[in-house]
Amino acid sequence: MAKIVVALDVEIQDAHKLIKVLSKEIEYYKIGHKLFTNNPEILTEINALGKKVFLDLKYHDIPSVVGLAIKAVTEKYKPFAITLHTSGGPKMMQEAVKAKNDLAKDLRPLLFGVTVLTSLGAEDLKALYGITQPLEDVVINLAKTARTCGLDGIVCSGRELPLVKKECGKEFLTLVPGVQLAAENFRSDQNRTASIEDLAGIGDYFVIGRQITGASNPAEMAGKILNAIK
Ligand code: C5P
Repeated sequence: MAKIVVALDVEIQDAHKLIKVLSKEIEYYKIGHKLFTNNPEILTEINALGKKVFLDLKYHDIPSVVGLAIKAVTEKYKPFAITLHTSGGPKMMQEAVKAKNDLAKDLRPLLFGVTVLTSLGAEDLKALYGITQPLEDVVINLAKTARTCGLDGIVCSGRELPLVKKECGKEFLTLVPGVQLAAENFRSDQNRTASIEDLAGIGDYFVIGRQITGASNPAEMAGKILNAIK
């Protein structure tokens, strides 16, 4: 069954409250730049509760620098999973995998490569790189390259998820943000969003932030979403 990863893009006090009220429903939390910058100890606290962290810093640099970053952050904070940009290139991804495999077995994080950010659209790819191919083709190309380089999975939008699974195989993991339960005040303030009901049974990890963290009853909302993807 797919897993929900709750994005803690909130103040630290609220993060603590949320982890407490969601303790029954949620095992996975996504920590991004905000909390990692101000309160990196949250990773150790989440681990101590027996929960798991997706550290979403989206690494993108020359291969050696990314390799060193993955080693350092894993040894210090022991995240369950780390994100990096596939657009950093094959050598960067291979170096990330090597850094991971050089770590003790019980420390090794899952590595997820961001394909095309869900905030971008086809017109952005054209403006940035002169790419005129359909966006899905770009995502599939990046996903296949990430798989060849040994990453555990990729980050893509819900719109490309079925195609990624078809092209890259079931075992290659997916982390999908920008999804919401459509039945509940669906916001469409983002590009390439999708309703989670439509993706039931397809993906591995779905990232949900504000629909849970901003709910009047976060645990109840998490329960509803888990039900919808059963
Ligand atoms: O929109 P929501 O609050 O659910 O966002 C949760 C997380 O998902 C954010 O931390 C962001 O990194 C990611 N996100 C995304 N693409 C979107 C919406 C959110 O990558 N379209």
